[in-house]
Amino acid sequence: MIGENGSGKTSVLEAVYLLAMGRSFRTRNLKHVIQTDEKQTQIFARIHPGIPVGMQISSILGTQIRLNNAPLKKLSDLASHLPLQYIPANCHQFFDLGPGFRRKVIDWGLFHVEQEFMFHWQAYKKILSQRNAALRNSKPINEVRLWDSSLIEHGLKITLYRDDYLTTLLAEFIKWFNLLCAEYSNAKYEIRYSTGWPKDSQFADVLHSTISRDTALGYTRSGPHAADWSIKINGQDPAEMCSRGQQKMFFLAISLAQISLLREKTQQKSVLLIDDISSELDAEHQVLAMKSIKRLGIQSFITTTNPELNRSININKKDIMFHVKRGEISQA
Ligand SMILES: Nc1ncnc2c1ncn2[C@@H]1O[C@H](COP(=O)(O)OP(=O)(O)O)[C@@H](O)[C@H]1O
Ligand SMILES: [Mg+2]
Repeated sequence: MIGENGSGKTSVLEAVYLLAMGRSFRTRNLKHVIQTDEKQTQIFARIHPGIPVGMQISSILGTQIRLNNAPLKKLSDLASHLPLQYIPANCHQFFDLGPGFRRKVIDWGLFHVEQEFMFHWQAYKKILSQRNAALRNSKPINEVRLWDSSLIEHGLKITLYRDDYLTTLLAEFIKWFNLLCAEYSNAKYEIRYSTGWPKDSQFADVLHSTISRDTALGYTRSGPHAADWSIKINGQDPAEMCSRGQQKMFFLAISLAQISLLREKTQQKSVLLIDDISSELDAEHQVLAMKSIKRLGIQSFITTTNPELNRSININKKDIMFHVKRGEISQA
């Protein structure tokens, strides 16, 4: 999709994102998605091999989502029908987005690949909020500790799943990153994974020994809900050593690796959204990025302000070029 600033490119990606996730990447309040001065908006699509999905957002009636001709029961049903990777224009800032964002990246892979992960994650979240409620309401310590054994059981499963996924992800990431950033092809990569409690100690011991701290805080500080991870290149942080363009390629390589792992394990094809692929990248790297994405053979929606981009890649019958102008889309 090619168009000038403010022509409506991001809005098209937002529409696809809404159908896959049931929420927007621009606003928490879905009513803000509705065009100013209008009362409602509708989005509709068919997911391969023909499952209809539709969403209606109304300023009066709220939001309604239908999947396969029936009202949607839970948002995760939507996500499991349409695995989606979204790469925002400012994705080079990935490193600054904090551990919550980075946990979501790995949990995406596990959610789609490991049925059991979702079970343990939901159980863990529920127990954690009960333990936190007990802490917040200054319940006696033995009442707080009632939750610990199940918290540990599910928490350790989540931790193992994440550890496994990160190891597989690293191997796949290196392949893609070497394609996208040839200058790092001889670099050494490693995953740093922090489980959410101090290294070399057991989750159970940490929960036990930090109970007075947790009581004072009014919540459980340590556990998989506080996990984090990073990839080091030659022992260094990419945020410190890579240019913004290289950081963008780094993020892209993580997304492409996730899509390719999902395909390998479940045969499911993800949809890829890339907003403003040209920003931060020189002409040569834009072409490299486009060619790498094509290798995946998935449906991708890519926006750019650079009208030259389509000339430098090999457009075939399956690729469609659109122009976006003042909110109107037309096939080029
Ligand atoms: N809910 C809305 N109501 C009215 N205008 C909107 C709404 N959301 C976005 N816009 C406007 O639509 C235009 C296109 O936005 P956008 O999709 O971000 O453009 P692009 O990505 O091509 O730069 C912008 O001028 C923006 O302010
Ligand atoms: Mg935009």
